[in-house]
Amino acid sequence: MAETAKPLTMDTIVSLCRRRGFVFPSSEIYGGIGSTYDYGHYGVLTKNNIRSLWFGAMVQERDDIVALDSAIILNPRVWEASGHVAGFTDPLVDCRTCKLRFRADQLELASCGRKPSKHPGETPDCDLTEPRQFNLMFETHVGALQDESSLAYLRPETAQGIFVNFKNVAQLARRKPPFGIAQVGKSFRNEITPGNFLFRLREFEQMEMEFFVPPGEADEWHAYWIEARRQWYLDLGLRQVNLRVREHDANERSHYSLATSDLEYLYPIGWQELEGVANRGEYDLTQHTRESGTKLEWIDPDGTRYTPYVIEPAVSIDRIMLAFLCDAYDEEVVGDRKRVVLRLHPRVAPVKAAILPLIPRDEGMATRARALYEELRPHHQVEHDESGQIGRRYRRQDEIGTPWAFTVDEQTLEDETVTVRDRDSLAQERLPLSGVREWLDDALVQEWRSPRSP
Ligand code: GAP
Repeated sequence: MAETAKPLTMDTIVSLCRRRGFVFPSSEIYGGIGSTYDYGHYGVLTKNNIRSLWFGAMVQERDDIVALDSAIILNPRVWEASGHVAGFTDPLVDCRTCKLRFRADQLELASCGRKPSKHPGETPDCDLTEPRQFNLMFETHVGALQDESSLAYLRPETAQGIFVNFKNVAQLARRKPPFGIAQVGKSFRNEITPGNFLFRLREFEQMEMEFFVPPGEADEWHAYWIEARRQWYLDLGLRQVNLRVREHDANERSHYSLATSDLEYLYPIGWQELEGVANRGEYDLTQHTRESGTKLEWIDPDGTRYTPYVIEPAVSIDRIMLAFLCDAYDEEVVGDRKRVVLRLHPRVAPVKAAILPLIPRDEGMATRARALYEELRPHHQVEHDESGQIGRRYRRQDEIGTPWAFTVDEQTLEDETVTVRDRDSLAQERLPLSGVREWLDDALVQEWRSPRSP
């Protein structure tokens, strides 16, 4: 097998996602809407896997974190107290010549409206305004009236829904600090640097966990969560060479942060934030205590009162999915044909196995393949495919990252065995039909590392 090494582009990933039904531009038949995407069948399956792996690691496998699902539209005072109304802004400049708007702090990532090979401000025709602050929250109105009094916001982060529920959860969950509250749900930001596919969306699904700790333990827990989250990605097969931790300088931290480290991934657009792990100190609980009049604090059994510090790992499923897809994408030449393969961790892969009758019109093969499919489908996401040449069917499964294919062939009719083909090595071995279920259960709990670089 020969590698076809060329740098991965975002266009390659966009085109695979489209071709294989992972992701479509949203409302495409009306010309789309900027930075908003719809997930197709394989995209939904992959997202579900990522969500449930995160939830498993954060909640199910731990004793110290509980779940929450708060509303998307909260009382607007939440966003005043949190600092989002005043400070959740990006500095923007307009170009008086091409009439486009750019983020002032990211001009080097944008293209000039008239000369896309140049950045805004680089041509003599560019005429940029001074930067102005633009709030990223989407506004809406609650109820029948559309005036100031009914103004509300779509949440720009899930975290505030957790902070305002601190008292409810702390009282009822029978946990004491250090303990966490985890939430998964949609967040919305009117991002002004659209583009780059799933990386920066206007509507995305966040997974955030707020870990409440005694102030004296905050640094230790911050280090713990940076490493725990890094290890989670490595365990799911992300290649170490493409993942790094970068600590924020004081001048780039958010208004609430005492310290933040990003887990950065080497996307086709360069090293970018995949997940942020922040020490938010007592900022949020103190703000909401002051603005709501409800004391959000912890009282130890001995009567000691304190406001817990918060350590927050925050990420979106969309950015994880993009990182996994980029990391997994591979091309190689097998024989004289190019093969595109997604080397996804089997637990992330949308489909775990394909069941393929070699000759679909052969009744013996068709019946056995169908029966195997029916046996496996209650337990795992599997596919039965009987359309086209076997080579084409394998290629299709390679492109959606299916780790194994079970093929029912002539020999099956003689000895009730099937071949299992491994997506990564292309090795084939024979298994008894009756042992396939157990084999697959076992394969899915094994460790997996990418056969490419570490
Ligand atoms: N509660 C903290 C918070 O929201 P953030 O760094 O603004 O912090 C956290 O966002 C994570 O959410 C990011 O690391 C990224 O994974 C994801 N995220 C933020 N904005 C996004 C966007 N426009 N599109 C996709 N994902 C986004």
